Order: sequence, then C-alpha cells, then structure tokens
Amino acid sequence: MIELKNISKSFEDNHVLKDISLKFKKGETNLIIGQSGSGKTVLLKSILGIHKIDKGQIIYGEDVYSEMNNKEKQKIRKEIGMVFQGGALFGSSTVMENVMFPLTMFSNFSKLEMEKQARFCLERVNLEDADNLFPGEISGGMQKRVAIARAIALNPKYLFFDEPNSGLDPQTSIVIDNLIKDITLDFNTVTVINTHDMNSVVEIGDNIAYIHEGKKWWTGSSEELMKTENKELSEFVFATKLMRSIKKNK
Ligand SMILES: Nc1ncnc2c1ncn2[C@@H]1O[C@H](COP(=O)(O)OP(=O)(O)O)[C@@H](O)[C@H]1O
Ligand SMILES: [Mg+2]
Repeated sequence: MIELKNISKSFEDNHVLKDISLKFKKGETNLIIGQSGSGKTVLLKSILGIHKIDKGQIIYGEDVYSEMNNKEKQKIRKEIGMVFQGGALFGSSTVMENVMFPLTMFSNFSKLEMEKQARFCLERVNLEDADNLFPGEISGGMQKRVAIARAIALNPKYLFFDEPNSGLDPQTSIVIDNLIKDITLDFNTVTVINTHDMNSVVEIGDNIAYIHEGKKWWTGSSEELMKTENKELSEFVFATKLMRSIKKNK
C-alpha cells in the first residue's frame, strides 16, 4: 500500500496541493482524476519524490519515504516502474535496448539474462516482433506498450502512469487500459494512474480520487462515481455528451 498523509505542495504563492490524504491499494488500479491544471502531475511527482513536499508524509508499505535520505530512497526507487506522458522512450535506442535500460542500470543480470527478461516483458505487452525497431518506426500505441514493458522490467511493486492514453485513439486506449489492469493483477502492484479519460474511469477505476482546486474532493469506485451527487465532480464527469448518455442509460 501507499499512503499519503496530509500532503501539501506550493510553488511560491501557487498552493497546488492542499492537505491531501489518500490510500492506494495493492492489486488495484487507483485513478487520480481532475481538470487540467488541478495538480495531478504535481501529485504524482510528489509521490515519486521528484517534487519535495512542504508538509505531510508519503508512506510506501511501512517506510516513510518522504523522510528518508537519498540512499534509503534508492531501495524504494528500484521497486517503482513509471510511464510518463508521451512514453519518453530513447529515440536512438531500439525497442529491445529501451526495455533493457533499467536492467543495465539496476540489475546484476548478464547480457543474456537481461535479454531474456526484456523479451519476457515485451511478450507480456504483446510485442514480440519489434525488438530491433526504433521508437520512430512504430505506432503510438506500440510505443506506449514498449514504455510499459520497460516499466515492468525490474518486477516493480509500484507502478505509476501519467495520462497513459494521451495522444492515443479510443480503441488503442482501451487496449492500454486493459493491459494496465491485467499487469496490476498479475504482478500485484500498487498502480496509480493520472487520467482525464472518462472511458478509463469507467473501465478500470477500482479506486478513484477526484482532485479539485488542489484538494481531495471525492473518493469512490467507478460505480459510485456514476451515481454521484457531488456538484463539481458531476460537472467534470458528465461534461461530455457520451458520458451524459451513459448516465441516462444506467
Ligand atoms: N515545476 C513547476 N513549477 C512551478 N509550478 C508548477 C510546476 N509544475 C506544475 N506547476 C503548477 O502546478 C499546477 C498544477 O499542474 P499539474 O500538476 O501539471 O496539473 P495537471 O497534471 O492536473 O494538469 C499548475 O498551476 C502548474 O502551473
Ligand atoms: Mg498532468
């Protein structure tokens, strides 16, 4: 489990995160939703330790990560896999090299073992025949799958995704969502996903946290979200025509 206790974060006089407490469970897809600019990326980067929080605690399992020194943090960082917006693959490295990268950095595997593990991860994301291609030669959805394969290379306990469906068409988004869900179950990871894709919310939202004006505004499951009476959340969720028609049919 990951637990956030009363975390706050400001950039000068911009108070982005205000006293947020949340729990993210193992083997479940935990979604953070909210308007663009509501602080989702800042929250994710704070959980990862990329941003230093001003107040509160970030706890991984039993470890108070936010109070550890850099050396202690390394241990937890090795257990984290992440997929940033855009995928952030190395353009001049092949698919295989991209997936092997974390293994070359953090494992003691031989080259053969690394290749075996990388191949296992590529198969897991249904990408068997792309080893020698470069990111520029494959589709956006395939790039995203490579990024996921790279994120799971070190058998992480924790998986983070920032807007995994940005730039993807709706069908590819569904494939990626289901892959994230399956991997979460298979690897029993604590998975945290930032998204404003309502389709993902309905499909894979085990636990949803809605962030509004820097505060934790609402938490619940996707079923609960469809019935919400909360004004701000309702306006956010049912802003699109598609979602309004889904609500009507429930
Ligand atoms: N590195 C930074 N320095 C200063 N302000 C930042 C930084 N990153 C984000 N912000 C501010 O934090 C707020 C939330 O941004 P962000 O977390 O990116 O929103 P979201 O991911 O929900 O779209 C915005 O007002 C943004 O300008
Ligand atoms: Mg963002």
